[in-house]
Amino acid sequence: MKHLIVAAHPAEDSFTMGLTRTYAAELEKLGHSQRTYDLYRMGFNPVLAASELLPVSADHPVSADLVQAQDDIRAADALTVIYPLWWLSMPAMMKGYIDRVFARGFAYESHNGIVHGLLAGKKSVLITISGAPLPLLVKSGNWNAVQVLQDTHIFRSAGFELLEHLHFDEVVPHISNATGEEHMERARSCARQHFPAD
Ligand SMILES: Cc1cc2nc3c(=O)[nH]c(=O)nc-3n(C[C@H](O)[C@H](O)[C@H](O)COP(=O)(O)O)c2cc1C
Repeated sequence: MKHLIVAAHPAEDSFTMGLTRTYAAELEKLGHSQRTYDLYRMGFNPVLAASELLPVSADHPVSADLVQAQDDIRAADALTVIYPLWWLSMPAMMKGYIDRVFARGFAYESHNGIVHGLLAGKKSVLITISGAPLPLLVKSGNWNAVQVLQDTHIFRSAGFELLEHLHFDEVVPHISNATGEEHMERARSCARQHFPAD
């Protein structure tokens, strides 16, 4: 299978980016091909321009980075998105990727306010990280908000079959090596479970 992994974290040595590399390596070990968009290191422009809201025409061609980003989703059988929860949402870098790349006419159409996803047939995995314990997020209703706004409103609405939302909670600076390795193993196991050897 062909995989596209999109990750957002400003620090290359962060837990988030470590998890991204571990997951990507496991997919390759399983015989899959993968391409990783490390949005910060690749200098992705997350700012949607006014011209990108206009219908595509000779005067308003789709910009080259967007054409490439959409082609890479088209070419992939599965998309995995990895980011820390910041204010219960995604870092602005990831939000900008979604705003620009998941454009009307590519990821969805909408008629009378009803959204119709255009990426049906593709699988997705969502991997998030929080400082707060998951039971606390669930109790406060915050986890439900995350699932409604991110799992459903973005990924399922675009037509993806969301295989799993894998969440790592209580990720604080200087977690022990043992806990860190347990987390990495959960990421490898997620890859093995959903994407057996090709
Ligand atoms: C700007 C910012 C906002 C954050 N907001 C939340 C939050 O709303 N809920 C939460 O549980 N953790 C929050 N955190 C904590 C991060 O989710 C957590 O520390 C991070 O995911 C750990 O992974 P990392 O080492 O890869 O950064 C926030 C962190 C930052 C920097």
